Amino acid sequence: MELKVYNNYNDLSAAAAEIIIDCVKSKPDALLCFATGDTPKLAYQMVAEKVVKENIDFSKCFMIGLDEWMGISPENTGSCHWFLHEYLFKPVNIDLSQVHLFDAFAKDEEAECKKMNKLIAANGIDLMVVGVGMNGHIGFNEPGTDIESLAHVAILDETTKTVGQKYFRDKVSIEKGITVGLKQVMQAEKLLVMANGKKKAPVIKRVVEEHLNTDFPASLIQVHKNSLLMIDDEAASELKTETR
Ligand code: PGA
Repeated sequence: MELKVYNNYNDLSAAAAEIIIDCVKSKPDALLCFATGDTPKLAYQMVAEKVVKENIDFSKCFMIGLDEWMGISPENTGSCHWFLHEYLFKPVNIDLSQVHLFDAFAKDEEAECKKMNKLIAANGIDLMVVGVGMNGHIGFNEPGTDIESLAHVAILDETTKTVGQKYFRDKVSIEKGITVGLKQVMQAEKLLVMANGKKKAPVIKRVVEEHLNTDFPASLIQVHKNSLLMIDDEAASELKTETR
């Protein structure tokens, strides 16, 4: 795992946007997997701005969503679906045939997971962009998730349910999430993990300094073959000097 610390959220987002764009430039038909949330939002907006301004060709790549809240409509502004369309797909003019997102209303959850597994197995994820939850989750790979897990429906952790309310205008009942699995996270060709702000400082300390354990899933990125942890100064503020 490589660690890079940036002065602020803006610099961090600009660097992440560059990596996303470079991935598509070097492999136009790349498969990219994107998380949603407050962390990657500015990076996606920067990608969109640059793609439009510089006329960069994103017409051959494929994009999948890392996760989704089960039972939340794609029109809900708190859904991962809405987020990706709003900040990335629409501004970049991505054709819907290039996108695969989990169906929050899938009646057959197993079949929905299988669809995602098949797509990932056929192509391999070239670049995955994720944030880290306050409980160390990546996607909805909650504490205790099996390291061998593929796409699955997870019962959400209390922290995820509480923190997750911030995305919604009105209070919602969120009990389950559907997510790409830990094994697929660990198999991504390149894994970009982002974190910013003071509140993520204790989380990042655990990601970097704690022994690997599935009770804190993000600690696994330490042994990913090609992971880059990109954080701002505030998120790095609790790291020991020797790990910074
Ligand atoms: P955030 O969420 O980017 O909104 O902090 C991160 C996560 O829960 O994965």
